[in-house]
Amino acid sequence: MKNLIKKLTETYSPSGREEKLRDTILEELKGFIDGYEVDKIGNLIVWKKGKKEGKILLDAHMDEIGILATYIDEKGFIRIEPIGGISPYNLLGTSISFPSIEGFVGVEGETTEEYAKNIKNLDFDKIFVDIGAKSKEEAEKLVPPGTFGVYSASFKDLGNRIVSKAMDDRVGCAIIIEVFKRANPIYDLYGTFSIQEEVGLVGASVVAFNIKPNIAIAIDVTAHSDTPKGPKRMSLELGKGPAIKIKDSASISDRRIVEKLRAIAENNNIPYQIEVLLRGGTDAAVLQRTAEGIVAGTLSIPTRYVHTPHEMVDINDVENAVKLLKILVENENSLL
Ligand code: CO
Ligand code: ZN
Repeated sequence: MKNLIKKLTETYSPSGREEKLRDTILEELKGFIDGYEVDKIGNLIVWKKGKKEGKILLDAHMDEIGILATYIDEKGFIRIEPIGGISPYNLLGTSISFPSIEGFVGVEGETTEEYAKNIKNLDFDKIFVDIGAKSKEEAEKLVPPGTFGVYSASFKDLGNRIVSKAMDDRVGCAIIIEVFKRANPIYDLYGTFSIQEEVGLVGASVVAFNIKPNIAIAIDVTAHSDTPKGPKRMSLELGKGPAIKIKDSASISDRRIVEKLRAIAENNNIPYQIEVLLRGGTDAAVLQRTAEGIVAGTLSIPTRYVHTPHEMVDINDVENAVKLLKILVENENSLL
């Protein structure tokens, strides 16, 4: 699975520009699906027919956080605006991948004092991106205002732990792809790969409208609490299993989904954790509110350093999530 995650994380896919990743996912799923559709706004919907009447939907988002070029000054320095929850602090000392060139982040400051003050209260007004251009004209040819960029950071394999700028949510996409590859679903299985989650759960707000599944599960990253002075009020550790979400700040998982996932994990000796996330949300929040209402929940992968260039997960949690979901979709009693 590591190779698949590497391939997906290294494919450019900022919110609103998910086309390349959509093609990569479809290519991966060739031979493992009975059909697919790209809906009006760009969500990818794939399916595999089951033997019985009923529908299970698994969702992951295709987009990653990034930045947009907004303005170029006379000397060719580029000003930027965030797309999704990206902190200017995470841009310090990093570089950005634009489709045609790399850019390097700098901070304003005429004096040492001013520079230190700017670092202390860093915001997007005080940083700029340098693509090595000598003039506005030169920069504009390569990165015209409106160009999307993402963190420039390659996939790293540390053994059990793997690191990438876009585990959020390529790891979810990879899990769904693997379930399609490995499972023989009892009911019709739908995979939705949604757009623009990071700017407000956009794609998932409509993706299930025509499917009307019996149950829907979003698969996404979540936070951690196992690093020095990590959040006290949470208990999520890497390597202790995928996390069954009870609540985050956008929704409360349907109780029946929580109980179903928990029972499967316990009956099959799959490690799992219970998640109450203090801040953040997933596509499940809007899947729940779709059409006449959909029974929805989230299965999460504990992740360190979410929304930084080095999001870290444990490959065993990823594998266990695939195991759990495979059993769910091959289980006759999974529709509640
Ligand atoms: Co995110
Ligand atoms: Zn996410």
